[in-house]
Amino acid sequence: MSIKQYIQNNQEKFLNELFDLLRIPSVSADPKFKNDVFKAADFVKESLEKAGADHVELCQTAGYPIVYGEKIIDPSLPTILVYGHYDVQPADPYELWDSPPFEPVIKKTARHPQGAIFARGSADDKGQFYMHVKAFEAMMANNAMPCNVKFMIEGEEEVGSANLDIFVKQNKEKLKADVVVVSDTHMISLEDPSVTVGLRGLAYMEVEVTGPNRDLHSGTFGGAVANPINILCKMIASLQDENNHITIPGFYDKVEEYSKSYREDLNKAPFDLDAYKKELDISEVHGESGYSTIERVGIRPTLDVNGIWGGYTGEGAKTVLPSKAHAKISMRLVPNQNHKEIAKLFEDHFKSIAPNSVKVKVTPHHGGAAAVVSTETPGYRAADLAIQEAFGKKAIPTREGGSIPICALFQQELGLDPILLGFGLDTDALHSPNEHYGIKNYLMGIETIALFFKHFKNEGNK
Ligand code: BES
Ligand code: MN
Ligand code: MN
Repeated sequence: MSIKQYIQNNQEKFLNELFDLLRIPSVSADPKFKNDVFKAADFVKESLEKAGADHVELCQTAGYPIVYGEKIIDPSLPTILVYGHYDVQPADPYELWDSPPFEPVIKKTARHPQGAIFARGSADDKGQFYMHVKAFEAMMANNAMPCNVKFMIEGEEEVGSANLDIFVKQNKEKLKADVVVVSDTHMISLEDPSVTVGLRGLAYMEVEVTGPNRDLHSGTFGGAVANPINILCKMIASLQDENNHITIPGFYDKVEEYSKSYREDLNKAPFDLDAYKKELDISEVHGESGYSTIERVGIRPTLDVNGIWGGYTGEGAKTVLPSKAHAKISMRLVPNQNHKEIAKLFEDHFKSIAPNSVKVKVTPHHGGAAAVVSTETPGYRAADLAIQEAFGKKAIPTREGGSIPICALFQQELGLDPILLGFGLDTDALHSPNEHYGIKNYLMGIETIALFFKHFKNEGNK
């Protein structure tokens, strides 16, 4: 039987198994789901064992375990390291989901006319890393493993991968491979398949602005005492100028300016601005002057408020001048921007712009480096060949705005450029209510991954 045939014959089974995994609410950010995160790790371990992996183990960490498993067919063959994550983002706000987030259902959408699986984690990243488990099963069942494989599936990606960082540094020999593949990104579409060659980094901050020592009557004191929410809004607004350029001194010092031809190439990728606006229900896009939407997301750093709170937000009106105001602010970074340096620049600047009428506290959360990978590697060539064989088209290299900080670590610690072979679409609502993943994307992904193994055997041996 061919691998393609095996995938076709097992469609139903592959979907049902993924559904079982999606039913486990493995939210790493919320301790309430602790048992479920461990349960998901067990599920991954068992599925690797069933597919035929050896030495499958839960590698304990200070947090959630890393699932490791391998199949060494022949030490002289190239080895592929597969990375993914079994943890998911919180599903809140639940009321905005059309169906419960941990009860997967199939529904058709404009971009998924053949149906998509709706569930938290369907695209990020359960549906995507599970393609690797199923491609491995298909190759094993057909006695057609072209390369060795090592799996490393973690449970803390959505909270910064702090323990994976330590694990990778301590287990370089165990993780030794010729390439690392990650399916945790988007592609342009099934018609225009792409491979991600760049991800942004991240610096995530929390700020607290304190005015008076207690909430005050906004009539008695309003106008005479600083309102920390008003002040916070002004401070945040000043972080970008009229060109949507970030005003933090030194912020752009290490940002690379790309050549005209590089930017032209980047902008050649198919991108329908009208469809983009329509899908988001916006009349105009917004961003740094002088850059296209593709560039704003792919090669430029940004600053966004992720949440802002304080004062009275309940029913009706309560007249109050609050004591405190808070915000969570993230900055997406590009290569060479160090997230710790940027966090420090942010903190110094944010404190410097605060008026004397308030006190400011700045707390950095997790962060990570951007990563750009070469298209001139055996891994990229194998990915391109696999895509050509599965989709009948060359892969378009794209740079994406999201972050997988561990990718820079793979480059630094293992000396490997990760191959970002993702099959999600940017409309799949990652981290949002109604996250979904196309059934066709799932099945084509499994097929393409098996083809990647086939082509890497040649490319990786050259
Ligand atoms: N899979 C995403 C990253 C991603 C999504 C890359 C889409 C490219 C396209 C990953 O799970 C994620 O959400 N990363 C976080 C950062 C992390 C440190 C919490 C992110 O990008 O916000
Ligand atoms: Mn992910
Ligand atoms: Mn994510």
